[in-house]
Amino acid sequence: MPKILDGKELAQKIRSNLKIKVDELKLEGIHPKLAVIMVGEDPSSKIYVRNKSKACEEIGIEYEEFLLKDTIQMEELLKLIDTLNKRQDVHGILLQSPIPNNLDINLAFKSIVPEKDVDGFNPVNVGRLCLNQDGFVSCTPFGVMKLLEEYNIDVEGKNAVIIGRSNIVGKPMAQCLLNKNATITICHSKTKELDKITKTADILISAVGRPKFVKKNMVKEGAVVIDVGTNRLEDGKLVGDVDFDEVAPITSYITKVPGGVGPMTIAMLMTNIVKAAGM
Ligand code: GUN
Repeated sequence: MPKILDGKELAQKIRSNLKIKVDELKLEGIHPKLAVIMVGEDPSSKIYVRNKSKACEEIGIEYEEFLLKDTIQMEELLKLIDTLNKRQDVHGILLQSPIPNNLDINLAFKSIVPEKDVDGFNPVNVGRLCLNQDGFVSCTPFGVMKLLEEYNIDVEGKNAVIIGRSNIVGKPMAQCLLNKNATITICHSKTKELDKITKTADILISAVGRPKFVKKNMVKEGAVVIDVGTNRLEDGKLVGDVDFDEVAPITSYITKVPGGVGPMTIAMLMTNIVKAAGM
């Protein structure tokens, strides 16, 4: 039977250690603070943002939320980001995506100063990751790397296949694994014979957003399977991209949804905020 990569447990351990660091920072007069901007009323975003605020509260990170109407113009959003960039008491700024289509999300991410870009989406931090330099790394890929590290899964020389090429997960995930000397393949909606490619994976990472997308015939015996999918079914149940019951028995390690990558994403956001506050 496979070993479960328990993100919930590791995330708890990381949060406990961060709480100690936050207490130390407070003794030095630094009170770490996250500012979250949400535009509109996306239901999934509301859940993500609530989970992030709960984690901040648990660790002792101060938290301020800015809820903007979906009718706002770009100037208003940029003005808020500029104010938060300049505020001494704010260490991390997070713009929850998605935002309405008429707003330029790339410009917004670029406008968050790199030192407060705890999501790692500013092109400066993306560039640093590409050059394997210190900076802020996108929280989900960062969390996946921590999970692999915790379970002593060496990625050097391994074939890592990522399904999904988003700026938030797929691309930075590939870069993180490349920085650790894995051989990388990124698959996407135009990829031909996907199952043949995924079957070559020693490490398979799915970030597609489709329930039960990854089936047993796509997975090599003994592979490590990481499920980044967070798909909410009509009944409200959260499921991943991987058909767990079918796939798990042939893997060496696998993550569950919930309790896998999700909690790690939040733990790494907290890690990035504490880092920003300590800089
Ligand atoms: N939307 C979905 N995932 C994320 C994330 O990690 N950060 C932000 N800012 N928005 C998201």
